[in-house]
Amino acid sequence: MLNFDSALSVEPTILSVTADTHRDMGLRPADFGTFQKAFLDTLCQPEFGQNSVETIEAWETILAPGINYLSNKATDSRKTR
Ligand code: HEM
Repeated sequence: MLNFDSALSVEPTILSVTADTHRDMGLRPADFGTFQKAFLDTLCQPEFGQNSVETIEAWETILAPGINYLSNKATDSRKTR
């Protein structure tokens, strides 16, 4: 997930099976936005240390390609496996 770069990926990608299982669960693009927000909000909680804005933004940046890929695949009818 953290190493995913959609620009360099040819199908099937390392996230293809996850995309298929998650689409088959009925997840929609908005669900991945909710997941992303919840993850980043959690990192802002004091239990996870005093993370700087730069740290939170770094997590957002590194997660974005994989989350965008899964989100786009949620509306893609083609199976990759
Ligand atoms: C960045 C986003 C996500 C990643 C990388 C991710 C990754 C995974 C992986 C690797 C698995 C285990 C293998 C599989 O079933 O494919 C899994 C299972 C699961 N995920 Fe996600 N997931 C993401 C988002 C979500 C969201 C948004 C939901 C629901 C709101 C969700 C619900 C589930 C459920 C219910 C399972 C268990 C499926 C089962 O055991 O039958 N996931 N996820």
